[in-house]
Amino acid sequence: MQQVFTKSMARNIFLGGAAFFLIIYLVLTYDSWQQIPKRDHADQMTPAVIAGKYLVDTHDCIGCHTINGEGSYYAPELGNVYKRRGGAFIEAWIRAQPTGVAGRRQMPQFNFTQSQLDDIVAYLKWLSNIDTNNWPPNIQG
Ligand code: HEC
Repeated sequence: MQQVFTKSMARNIFLGGAAFFLIIYLVLTYDSWQQIPKRDHADQMTPAVIAGKYLVDTHDCIGCHTINGEGSYYAPELGNVYKRRGGAFIEAWIRAQPTGVAGRRQMPQFNFTQSQLDDIVAYLKWLSNIDTNNWPPNIQG
């Protein structure tokens, strides 16, 4: 048996390893594409959900909040806020801002109309039904 580690052996290990992990990568990517639609139920994005997502995206809510762990850590997680608080609380909360309570962090007043608030709640409800494997792990993010 050859004792010397030749260039061609090194090349074969490199190419074989690269091919092996490329195949694993492709299989896992394919699997993710199979799993995601079952988890995000994008087919349940009604026009209200889409409008609410647009409002949340264009009012920089993630400048302060996180959504499914992504965003800023100034204010509570919004991905699960519908399950924690419910739609009525969320509407009343957004209307009541800023609270002006001394020592508490403040959220701006956005002056949303009733139908805009309904859309935001529809979006937050849809968000709360995404299967994120319970991410983020602490309830308020
Ligand atoms: C300037 C920062 C800021 C922005 C921008 C902001 N928020 Fe907030 N929000 C806060 C803070 C701070 C709190 C928590 C205040 C407290 O607990 O007294 C909060 C709380 C909330 C709550 C209640 C959360 C809970 O767990 O009870 C909801 C719902 C909410 N925000 C929705 C939104 C939405 C929707 C937007 C975008 C339209 C938004 N926020 C934009 C700062 C912000």
